[in-house]
Amino acid sequence: MEQYAIKGGNPLVGEVEIGGAKNAALPIIAASIMTDESVQVDNIPDVRDTNVLLDAMQEIGVMIKRNNRHSVSINASQVHDYVVDGDNIRKIRASYYFIGALLAKYKNAEVALPGGCDIGCRAIDQHIKGFRALGAEVVIEYGLIKAHAERLRGSHIYMDVVSVGATINIMMVAAMAEGTTIIENAAKEPHVVDLANFLNSMGANIKGAGTDVIRIKGVHSLHGTEYAIIPDQIEAGTFMFAAAITKGDITVKNVIPKHLESITAKLLEIGCEIEESDDAVRVVAAKPLRHTQVKTLPYPGFPTDMQPQITVALALSTGTSIVTESIFENRFKYVDELIRMGANIKVEGNTAIVNGVAKYTGASISAPDLRAGAALVLAALAAEGYSCVEDIHYIQRGYEDFHLKLQSLGAQIEKVDSGRDMQKFKLKIG
Ligand code: UD1
Repeated sequence: MEQYAIKGGNPLVGEVEIGGAKNAALPIIAASIMTDESVQVDNIPDVRDTNVLLDAMQEIGVMIKRNNRHSVSINASQVHDYVVDGDNIRKIRASYYFIGALLAKYKNAEVALPGGCDIGCRAIDQHIKGFRALGAEVVIEYGLIKAHAERLRGSHIYMDVVSVGATINIMMVAAMAEGTTIIENAAKEPHVVDLANFLNSMGANIKGAGTDVIRIKGVHSLHGTEYAIIPDQIEAGTFMFAAAITKGDITVKNVIPKHLESITAKLLEIGCEIEESDDAVRVVAAKPLRHTQVKTLPYPGFPTDMQPQITVALALSTGTSIVTESIFENRFKYVDELIRMGANIKVEGNTAIVNGVAKYTGASISAPDLRAGAALVLAALAAEGYSCVEDIHYIQRGYEDFHLKLQSLGAQIEKVDSGRDMQKFKLKIG
């Protein structure tokens, strides 16, 4: 099993190029099947989740041409099946975007129930409520969600919780339903806006994405397009926190600074210096980190996908910080690993009480999920001595070339396959 071998202690310094947003790429790739014409999608991150989705599409007859590492042409004119149920697709959360896309186009979808990171109960009731409101019959049978409609009709839908996935799925179906749909209490994440822009570039009529009321006038059919995905807010935020955690100086390039405001605000609060330009943000951590309080919230609040990274930083700050997780109830599993590295953190329900310590020390740790895995790598890079991070397949789901980008910033990190490779790494680094 692949692992990361790490020797910590180097401040990370330099520039890093941020890729396309995984969480925008996933619905956009799935929505590409909503037309019979060809769609070219650029700036796709080359990560496990996007590749699993593309493979699953090929299984139902979608033609995929890889133009280069980050660009694909997708043609769904030969789709022969509405059942998406492979071994891989069951492992990823975004499989549910096929329900919206297939239901919109073919009025029929049967898709494996979503998997993804184990960070708490990940209900899909709001998706189902939306599909039903638009005229579909939905049942869950034999591990599949089956949705079918004679006619899809626009509706007024009030979301009981702010859900990125449900907002996106309902938007896809409503884009091709008869009449107008209004989604109230919609998610406002940048990837919701990106999907709306993508669908509009295919001829959809969606207004208000990025606010909490989205209005969609359904159209009969969509056409081909060429579209580039927005930069990844969470990858950018992870490298920004890498600067804070390792007391470094990192410029993240190819970003939209507006999408990073909640992250930038917290870094300033804990004592980092920030320089912003049109498409880059520089984070310098020259002073000791200060404690703060943070609560995860839907956009534009502090993202739950950045909660482990900020906790790793706060655990190295002076004083006591409070971290409250309000989106997913099971997102502090990495704390036990961090405690093994010397952190002083107590979790009570959805709150972590973080008492800052002067340093981490290296340990053998394992990644419990995607974002926590990345955060533990950052802790190991700040730690005194060697660490081994296991279960890095979680990290590979969402970060392209994570260790190579870290190496380019001066990190001593290598991907290894066995305990023997770990020994070789130690001998090499000395
Ligand atoms: C997406 C992101 C994930 C991120 C999350 C919140 C993808 C592939 N994943 O996940 O990285 O952490 O947004 O920003 O884009 N809920 C319900 N019923 C539903 C749907 C959701 O109760 O039908 C609840 C969830 O349990 C959770 C909250 O709503 O407590 C937010 O979930 P949601 O925004 O749907 O997250 P995902 O779309 O799964």
